[in-house]
Amino acid sequence: MTEFASEPTWTLAELEGEGARHVTDAIWAYIQGGAGEEHTLRENAAAFDQWSLSPRVLVDVREIDLRTELLGRQVAVPFFVAPMAYQGQVHPDGELALARAVGPENVLATYSTLSSCSLEDIAKASGGAPRWFQLYLQPDFEVSRSLIERAERAGFDAIVLTADVPVLGVRDRQARGGFAIDASVPLGNGRDVVPPPRVPLAQGPVFRLRSEAGVSWEILGAIRSITRLPVIVKGILSVEDAQRAAREGAAGLLLSNHGGRQLDRSVSPLSVLPEIRKAVPETLEVYLDGGVRRASDVLIALALGAHAVGIGRPFLWALAADGAAGVRRYLRLLSEELATALAISGRRNLDEVDRNLLRESRP
Ligand code: FNR
Ligand code: LAC
Repeated sequence: MTEFASEPTWTLAELEGEGARHVTDAIWAYIQGGAGEEHTLRENAAAFDQWSLSPRVLVDVREIDLRTELLGRQVAVPFFVAPMAYQGQVHPDGELALARAVGPENVLATYSTLSSCSLEDIAKASGGAPRWFQLYLQPDFEVSRSLIERAERAGFDAIVLTADVPVLGVRDRQARGGFAIDASVPLGNGRDVVPPPRVPLAQGPVFRLRSEAGVSWEILGAIRSITRLPVIVKGILSVEDAQRAAREGAAGLLLSNHGGRQLDRSVSPLSVLPEIRKAVPETLEVYLDGGVRRASDVLIALALGAHAVGIGRPFLWALAADGAAGVRRYLRLLSEELATALAISGRRNLDEVDRNLLRESRP
């Protein structure tokens, strides 16, 4: 074999194609789709086009280190799996396959309240690897309390409070695709758990939503009073909310527009990252998700001040394509690409990734 021969693997585009082949068109529309006309879904990706990388040369890059620390725990790479619901629809092993693939690699994953498997089984499948539990507030706070307590007992490292879904967004592609939750894949966290509400049709000009749509910032204190786990707020897009979350004791902020699935025409997380990073204490960890696909995207977000980035849909493509083995292959693809990008940028580790790595390509 020559030095250039490589094992067959997927490119990202092939991975997407494989994923699509393994689920129904309706499930694919649910995964891929965004809110409304999908302006925000496109903008999440386009926001990265504003930046170019400025490599340095003749740097000794024999040793490349991708490790970082998130909330005091070491992880292998500066990206993590974003929380995504209903993984049992994508692969029979659902979240367990994801956990079995990322756990041994010490890669962080976040698991949804709406997982198809129970959080206890997910914890077991993760081994000792870092894991975060994503909380959808429930209409009855006692159900939320029970989920938080279970997550703490099962050894999750943090609670990620998703704050951008007081009500589910209007998703045209999903509706056109005829997506419906498959009743044969139950929710793993128990019968008391319910998905976020939708605006009820034909209610007249005043809409009354379920009680979790009525919470305010005090909820952070309420959650913090019942758990020792750090709380991360997911769905922050403004300086005001970032500062408020900091004052209410959040340990981290996940800047996100839910992968363009909630409010069409909302801003992209990357575009607000610099102003938010500047506006909150340095000790507060700031993460971002939405549109991160390649190593270059990871580098751009880190150079603008993100501690780490979440990645959503590609992990579902990998899971659909080949379960745990698919996720392992994708992890390897992205990790190797990131190590390669660092080396060619003349950076050896993530401490060396800073604003000097970037130039504005479309000011
Ligand atoms: C999501 N997302 C999500 N977020 C959350 O807090 N709880 C959830 O249960 C889900 N479920 C979910 C399902 C599917 C199919 C997708 C695609 C996304 C949003 C997710 O955590 C993340 O914010 C985005 O997916 C990030 O964007 P990219 O990487 O998919 O572009
Ligand atoms: C979604 C919800 C379930 O984005 O978070 O589909």
